[in-house]
Amino acid sequence: MTLANERPLPEGDEKRRAVRSMFDRVAGRYDLVNRVMTFGMDVGWRRRAVRELRLPGRALVLDLACGTGDLCAELERAGYRPVGFDFSHGMLAAATATAPLVEADVLRLPLRDGVAEGVTCGFALRNVVDLRAFFDELARVVRAGGRIALLDASEPENRVMRAGHGVYFRRVVPRIGGLLSDGAAYAYLPRSMAYLPVPRELLRMLEDAGFPDAERLPLSAGIAQLLVGTRG
Ligand SMILES: C[S@@+](CC[C@H](N)C(=O)[O-])C[C@H]1O[C@@H](n2cnc3c(N)ncnc32)[C@H](O)[C@@H]1O
Repeated sequence: MTLANERPLPEGDEKRRAVRSMFDRVAGRYDLVNRVMTFGMDVGWRRRAVRELRLPGRALVLDLACGTGDLCAELERAGYRPVGFDFSHGMLAAATATAPLVEADVLRLPLRDGVAEGVTCGFALRNVVDLRAFFDELARVVRAGGRIALLDASEPENRVMRAGHGVYFRRVVPRIGGLLSDGAAYAYLPRSMAYLPVPRELLRMLEDAGFPDAERLPLSAGIAQLLVGTRG
């Protein structure tokens, strides 16, 4: 199974297998490609996500779909106690973070209800096979009053910006990915935006899951988005 450009986007178990093997393949150069294709802006987006948690020092924060652990490192720098979860063995093996990292599916976390004070998640909403089930799992593991901060890519609202961003994302990013890493994987990246519900729907899903004050913060003129909320 590949995620090459011309094939229809996979769903269900096929998507799960394809996403996992894709991240296993790109793991070694994942951080480098991120820095290059976002001009380093991804670092600032992760910092903002951690800032928006606004939890007490030493709070236990789960970083779901942690990949190589960049958010875990930011959480540690901010004085939290992060634990990362990801199902790609390759991504976890490439991690340099010192936080504990667990190989697990974020749709079925090996954790008891209400164990965490916070959750972060970076750039993985498009990758899970069932976003509602993911939000329900967040609501299960975060205690009342706990906070979530979820980052993902987005499309700018401004028409001119959106057109320019579309060209960059669809034409330039796959080339950068092809040069530095795996072309098919980075051609999938812009296509995977089709999995992401529109902002209004994302917020409704979070409210329904148990985060009544969910809000969306556009970042860098809307090329990224941060969804934050408090567990009701
Ligand atoms: C784009 S990477 C993001 C990594 C990291 N959060 C970051 O900010 O760079 C997406 C990650 O989601 C993970 N992932 C996707 N679906 C998952 C699932 N159901 N369970 C665990 N990890 C998952 C992939 O293995 C991959 O490491």
